[in-house]
Amino acid sequence: MIIRQFLLISMLLLHVHSIFCSDLPILPESLENKNDTMAVFQSIETRLNYVSFIQNSAEERFVVKQTKNGSPLAQLDHIKEVFATHIAQSIGIFTNHVFLLPKGLDIAGKPDKERLATLHTWVPGCSTIKMFSPPFIRQGTRMTLSSYDKIGLTRKMIRNMSKHPDLSKIVAFDTYLGNYDRSLLNLFYDKKIDRFYMIDMERALSVNLCYAACYHMEIISKEKTIAFSPAEINALTSFCQTLHALVEKYPPQEQNNLFDYYLSQSELERENQLDTEAINHKIEWYKALIADTYTSAKKLITLINTLITPA
Ligand SMILES: Nc1ncnc2c1ncn2[C@@H]1O[C@H](COP(=O)(O)OP(=O)(O)O)[C@@H](O)[C@H]1O
Ligand SMILES: [Mg+2]
Repeated sequence: MIIRQFLLISMLLLHVHSIFCSDLPILPESLENKNDTMAVFQSIETRLNYVSFIQNSAEERFVVKQTKNGSPLAQLDHIKEVFATHIAQSIGIFTNHVFLLPKGLDIAGKPDKERLATLHTWVPGCSTIKMFSPPFIRQGTRMTLSSYDKIGLTRKMIRNMSKHPDLSKIVAFDTYLGNYDRSLLNLFYDKKIDRFYMIDMERALSVNLCYAACYHMEIISKEKTIAFSPAEINALTSFCQTLHALVEKYPPQEQNNLFDYYLSQSELERENQLDTEAINHKIEWYKALIADTYTSAKKLITLINTLITPA
């Protein structure tokens, strides 16, 4: 059984790797070792997921995550997670690797073997919630999502992201991917190498954060009350560079292809007509958001460049 688990995982990972080999990193060696065993050393429950921490005999660690909600619609969260992580990895933003664990695949820490889950490589350091003075770069909450004036790249966010060079890149990524939930729990810091890492992309494709950012930039440009500090100008410059890289590499068609690729990998089951309609509707909604965000992102880059370029 254990050997079968590892054979299946290796096949899965090699397949993913061969399709996107120009983007994907080398597979974790430990997952290719068919004679090794994985054991759960801790399990937790979050609001939406079962999360298990597993390790092999060499104490290499991984995370297995599965939605509590077993409906086919809820499985789209797993697809968004691999989709968004893939994009971050491929343009060199600091995150772990995430792989789909399809239904039928039996691995330690996966509660329902007959459902989709994700496997995450371990992130170094610890959650920023443990820091003495952590950076707040969460761009919204479930409650504020519909109010563009309260979410996205506010003046305060610009100040916060200017505190470390990694942060502006992470904020740009979240802005393009429509991921409002970069809470302290979803941001790690490795003090040995002074680096921030993102985990948890399930809330990607939630809202057009580029549109919200344009809203704030237009107000800042009209008011002209508080000048940007040199650190803030550096942060905005780096934000624009990352956003530009994302716009260039991931226009809507590329994102749609990548999303569809992971969707097909997931072998998502539609149990009945209602499921099919709900899933198709949600996917259309994601794709419309991707297209709108792309348009807003290009406008945002122009707005910020005008703001930070001396007259
Ligand atoms: N790759 C990882 N490396 C280390 N810890 C992790 C990793 N992924 C998750 N965790 C831990 O598990 C918790 C829950 O995982 P997360 O992906 O944020 O789940 P949820 O989407 O339900 O919030 C995180 O806050 C973090 O402490
Ligand atoms: Mg989380």
